[in-house]
Amino acid sequence: MTNPIIDSLLTRTSLAGAFMKAPAPSDEELQQILGAAQRAMDHGRLRPWRFFIVRPEHYEVFFDRLAEAATRVQGDPARYTQNREKYRLTARAPLVVVAAAHIDPAHKVAPIEQAFAAAGATQLVLNAAHALGYAAFLFSGAGVFDAQFKAGFGLESQDHLIGFICLGTAGGPGKPGPTAADAVKTGLESTVRQWAPT
Ligand SMILES: Cc1cc2nc3c(=O)[nH]c(=O)nc-3n(C[C@H](O)[C@H](O)[C@H](O)COP(=O)(O)O)c2cc1C
Repeated sequence: MTNPIIDSLLTRTSLAGAFMKAPAPSDEELQQILGAAQRAMDHGRLRPWRFFIVRPEHYEVFFDRLAEAATRVQGDPARYTQNREKYRLTARAPLVVVAAAHIDPAHKVAPIEQAFAAAGATQLVLNAAHALGYAAFLFSGAGVFDAQFKAGFGLESQDHLIGFICLGTAGGPGKPGPTAADAVKTGLESTVRQWAPT
């Protein structure tokens, strides 16, 4: 017997922004997608995830800043133009959501557990988008490690930019790769073991 929620979890795949077309999720759907993220596992109920919605009217400035950030981290000013074009092409999506982890270094919950929770919340965004019939894809790049770029989102040095979630409607099959069914089969074989004490 099939279960539609399990089916949705088993069939999610990424689709690069370059293969997406309009429409993006509506504001109401975006509330559901980001609402799903609020149900992530969360040690200490800190809600360490942060999401910043970037609308197309702000893409040009966003790409400028992301390319500047990556170039700073790479330490090679000559790469700016190449970086900017790469991000412009990668993030050609109807909507971008920046995913971040806000870390409280003084809290008794270890910073890495806070980061795990934020990563889980980010995954829920991808799964919820898929459940509503939208395509999604997370990309990062060197810019995520740039303190000045992070500060533009009100993030501090101990916080992490997890990546940039492209959201939209599938406009093509995307790059060739394993099917979701193959990924599940191979993943089960390579990552799951019975444990027993020795
Ligand atoms: C933190 C993080 C950063 C990522 N950054 C990139 C990236 O910059 N470029 C990229 O092509 N894929 C990146 N990926 C991988 C894709 O999001 C995606 O998971 C991968 O292409 C596998 O596709 P699938 O989700 O369909 O299995 C990143 C994944 C994670 C978890």
